Amino acid sequence: MTDTQETTSIPSRQKPPFWARRGGLATIVIVAALASAAVTALLTDIFEKKVEQRNPWVRVVEVGEDDTDAAKWGQNWPAQYDGYKRTALLTKTRFGGHAGSEALPEEKIERDPWLKKMFHGYAFSIDYRDRRGHAHMLADQEATKRLDKPQSGSCLHCHASIMPLYRALGNGDAMKGFEESFKVSYQDLNAKLHESGHAHPVSCVDCHDPTSMALRVTRPGFLKGISAFAESDAPAPAFSSVEIWRGGERDKPYDPNLDASRNELRSFVCGQCHVEYYCSTKMPLEFPWSKGLKADQIEAHWDARAFPDGSRFLDYKHAETGAEILKAQHPEFELWSEGIHARSGVSCADCHMPYMREGATKVSDHWVRSPMLNVNHACQVCHHYDEAEIKSRVDVIQTRTHDMMQRSANSLMAMLDAIKAARAAGANDSQLADALKFQRSAQWRVDFISSENSMGFHAPQEAVRILGEAIDFSRQGEISAMKWNQSKPATSPPTTNPAATRPSD
Ligand code: HEC
Ligand code: HEC
Ligand code: HEC
Ligand code: HEC
Ligand code: HEC
Repeated sequence: MTDTQETTSIPSRQKPPFWARRGGLATIVIVAALASAAVTALLTDIFEKKVEQRNPWVRVVEVGEDDTDAAKWGQNWPAQYDGYKRTALLTKTRFGGHAGSEALPEEKIERDPWLKKMFHGYAFSIDYRDRRGHAHMLADQEATKRLDKPQSGSCLHCHASIMPLYRALGNGDAMKGFEESFKVSYQDLNAKLHESGHAHPVSCVDCHDPTSMALRVTRPGFLKGISAFAESDAPAPAFSSVEIWRGGERDKPYDPNLDASRNELRSFVCGQCHVEYYCSTKMPLEFPWSKGLKADQIEAHWDARAFPDGSRFLDYKHAETGAEILKAQHPEFELWSEGIHARSGVSCADCHMPYMREGATKVSDHWVRSPMLNVNHACQVCHHYDEAEIKSRVDVIQTRTHDMMQRSANSLMAMLDAIKAARAAGANDSQLADALKFQRSAQWRVDFISSENSMGFHAPQEAVRILGEAIDFSRQGEISAMKWNQSKPATSPPTTNPAATRPSD
């Protein structure tokens, strides 16, 4: 282009070239200046529009890493804050949540007495209640009678907006602070939390970068756990970013804040807390994902784990049988990861924080709660059935899981009685080794599904598979204990009808 223009301008010899005439240069300078101003203006405009798209909020106040009080963020994002505050409301569904006027939720261990027997020798047999909304998490933890037994500061990882305190404990390094925190007693760390002014339940800063508002993961337990999972060779069909990382250089550990997709983060933020873990006084909080996220892979992680003093990993010794037990904790993230929704890219937030219209804008409902209270936004965007049909599909899944769980609990109780009878007749640890091994495995599976909070919904077939294994292991354990004790056969309790214990609608 330029070449052609130059050659065509050469023949006009009579006139000096345009740029050499008086005023020509000035014109060029002015035109160039105007053009560059126009381009700058256009670029600025595009940039601003981009920023607006990403960040369409008017900030009334600046928020930063140490702002754990959601009320301050609420001035900038009132719609999200309104939803967040509603987590204080009490709600109830057939199998979920909690409602009622009493100060604390109902005791699970009174409703299902087998839970109490299963946890005999552990703090959960003292006090184990229904969960409720996020606004209550710190107060409910402070109120539990499980604190009558010594508990570690690790408990606060998931019940408070703890990051500033971790940074303080680690002289600016949150990961270091986290690794120290298990050595501090719950009471001492909780007192520090209150002194520091950060005694708030999970807050905006725990899931959002205060500058960009992008989703992010803050909790050290998750960061370490998910990177160990990435290092494993367990298939990860629900996490494409893990598969991509595995196929890459692997020179740096998998980091969800750099590697995960936005959609994955819509579940990872919940996986900071709704998971299985070790949380006590012998070592830092640990998410057991080095062999995968399935119940049996997690069991294998714990079985391969030893405490720092070299002793075998356990959560407690069962008071009646002496078995070394693994306590399962709310593995929502893990069970969900095995279901069809995770595999189809449906995130926790899709169902528990669905989009809703607020005037002209789309807002994620920050009233995190049971999707059964919000079927319209939570399910019907993808499933075009009427509300009654959707509810009934969920009910079928939950009722089946519930009945199977009661059946597996019955067989577990029968095994416990058989082991007890063998003990009473003088059997020692080595004679009962097989039975105690079966108890550990069976109880882990019953507990995995009963402490998971969706009553099987997050992965129905997987839930029933796990319970099926629990029944098999319980009966094998029972037979093993009875064989030793053939002269005095164990008296199994009559198998109660699982349907009789279903909650009403
Ligand atoms: C496809 C929708 C869907 C997805 C995705 C999903 N859930 Fe759920 N979740 C449900 C349903 C349905 C229930 C059962 C609610 C009930 O019984 O009232 C439930 C129950 C729960 C409960 C107990 C709620 C209560 O009121 O007691 C928790 C906690 C939970 N889910 C967390 C999670 C987490 C964390 C994730 C992601 C790792 C997740 N869910 C993914 C639909 C979903
Ligand atoms: C910092 C830890 C933490 C994070 C992050 C977290 N939760 Fe929770 N969640 C809890 C605790 C603790 C409770 C129980 C509070 C209680 O019973 O006092 C709870 C309760 C719930 C309940 C029961 C609500 C009710 O009304 O019964 C649901 C549903 C739930 N969470 C879903 C989610 C989802 C979905 C996410 C991610 C968007 C998430 N949570 C993120 C710790 C967390
Ligand atoms: C990895 C995250 C995490 C850690 C660590 C944790 N919790 Fe929780 N906690 C949760 C979640 C999620 C729930 C809600 C789901 C449920 O109730 O099953 C919950 C529920 C509770 C509840 C209400 C229901 C109940 O069980 O009675 C109490 C009380 C509680 N936790 C106390 C504790 C104590 C004490 C510790 C330390 C020993 C602790 N938590 C450590 C995540 C955690
Ligand atoms: C447990 C994690 C969690 C907490 C706590 C949380 N959010 Fe969110 N927030 C989310 C998720 C998930 C989304 C959806 C983001 C997406 O799809 O990219 C979201 C989206 C948003 C958005 C983007 C617009 C929208 O509604 O989708 C804003 C703004 C926001 N949150 C503000 C807040 C504020 C303010 C608080 C505190 C009052 C808060 N969030 C607390 C998880 C959380
Ligand atoms: C973002 C889309 C999306 C949302 C939201 C969603 N689902 Fe699904 N659901 C799917 C997909 C995809 C499947 C897999 C079946 C398929 O591929 O057609 C599925 C499957 C199911 C199944 C069959 C489960 C199985 O294991 O066979 C049930 C039941 C179901 N969904 C109920 C619900 C309920 C209840 C909600 C709301 C709490 C919900 N879904 C929310 C997309 C969604």
